[in-house]
Amino acid sequence: MAERDIWGNRTAFVLASIGSAIGLGNLWRFPYVCYEFGGGAFLVAYIVCLVSAGIPLLMLEFALGKQTAQAAPGAFAKIDKRLEWFGWFAVGIGFVICSYYSAIMSYCVNYFYYSFTLAWGDDPAEFFNRHVLDKTGDPEQPWALGSFRWQLFFGLLLTWSLILACVWKGTKTVGKVVWVTVLGPWALLILFVIRGVTLEGAADGLSYYVTPRWSMLWNFSPAPGEIGAHELWLAAISQVFFSLTVGFGVMIAYGSFLDDETCIVKNTWIIGLGDALTAIVGGFAVFGALGHKAHADGVPITEVVESGPGLTFVTYPEIINGLPLPHLFGILFFVMLSLLAIDSAFSLVEALSSSVRDKFGFTHRQANVAVSLAGVIFGLPYMFGSGIHWLDIVDHFMNFCGLSIVVLGTCLIVGWHFPASRMRHFINQRSDGKIDIWWDIRIQLIVPAAILYMLGFEVYVRLENAYGDFGLRSQELVFGWGMLLLIFFASVVLSLARPNLRS
Ligand code: TRP
Repeated sequence: MAERDIWGNRTAFVLASIGSAIGLGNLWRFPYVCYEFGGGAFLVAYIVCLVSAGIPLLMLEFALGKQTAQAAPGAFAKIDKRLEWFGWFAVGIGFVICSYYSAIMSYCVNYFYYSFTLAWGDDPAEFFNRHVLDKTGDPEQPWALGSFRWQLFFGLLLTWSLILACVWKGTKTVGKVVWVTVLGPWALLILFVIRGVTLEGAADGLSYYVTPRWSMLWNFSPAPGEIGAHELWLAAISQVFFSLTVGFGVMIAYGSFLDDETCIVKNTWIIGLGDALTAIVGGFAVFGALGHKAHADGVPITEVVESGPGLTFVTYPEIINGLPLPHLFGILFFVMLSLLAIDSAFSLVEALSSSVRDKFGFTHRQANVAVSLAGVIFGLPYMFGSGIHWLDIVDHFMNFCGLSIVVLGTCLIVGWHFPASRMRHFINQRSDGKIDIWWDIRIQLIVPAAILYMLGFEVYVRLENAYGDFGLRSQELVFGWGMLLLIFFASVVLSLARPNLRS
């Protein structure tokens, strides 16, 4: 086999991984999930999950890639031939995420265009629902398809062309592109935070964000309508994994491009903390804006906007409206958001196409073009008026269920089958910083137990509710689980397909 590409230098590896981690997950998903799951309490759960599960698993993925010199499917196959499908499954979940992720990127591209005229006016929520999405307006039937949004579709095409351009030459370009896509956006982010927290009425939003209602963290028998602790923790842990891009085979592929001298332990901490910091700092801007809006509308902070994937497309325009030179900052902001997102998206394309290359001997270009085309096709459902509704459901199933299954499986396979102690020695050999047996305990016991518990609870609650409330719920359920099953079958088929390696 051809020699693997190696990162041009060590900084390129760190930047590319940070680039994959930092993206819409930090500035789009984190704020709305945090808002939905109780603000401060979620923030606490998020930090706990980051340190006790996210960072150890990120380390594991890098090490697995480095140890096997393979992308995810090959890496799991090296541990045990029968496990190749599991690697495909992880990448498959990542691909589905990538398909709606690029739809959100298309929103960003459209908002970039709207910034020239500040088209959202003084009611960004109304603008988003009516003008951008053209939602059906019938709350009984949020899933009814709605009209095809051509401007979103153009955004999608543009998005995928950009992604393709970025990955065209493999790790060599990736290492360069990320300098711009990671470091640039931070400057603007700081500006947005300053504006967000100084808006009139921001204090209420900020206090919701940083003052936890502690009881939420252990409220395991919630009253109807209340958020249960299992849900809160599941939301936090899946947000951590989503944000770090752990559980999608991406970091395994990036680890496989790693040279021999890079310290895995130290770099994992840099990447993990850099990612979390971006989300947490960005949260100040969003919650400041939410406070401002609550103040202006005279409503409590929990009722300002409909939470969900649309939230940040309301709050950011709100902040932009309050800035001097709003057009300029609007344009800059949405360029920045697209830049942040693009390296996350192409990390998945890299992971998937390097898997295909490793197994079937495709060339770089063939694999990348095939993946991008598939991405456009799978993005089509989100181009309709009801797209964001389905996006929310797919996001839920992929992250709460699919991602948990992958992380659980990874812990069991590497923790017990490989096993963890061997991987720990491997990591320690290659790192200046060392990890101890506590790492094994988390990988083997704590993380799997926590996920099993929360996942079990989630499935149980979903099933319960579906029986009580037929209609939308059961449709969603069939759709969500159907999708997961489909990914599962596709991965089994891919793993059974005969390899066609060019030597
Ligand atoms: N980590 C990315 C972010 O924070 C999101 C992400 C996770 C992602 N998995 C993915 C993006 C798979 C595309 C494909 O934005």
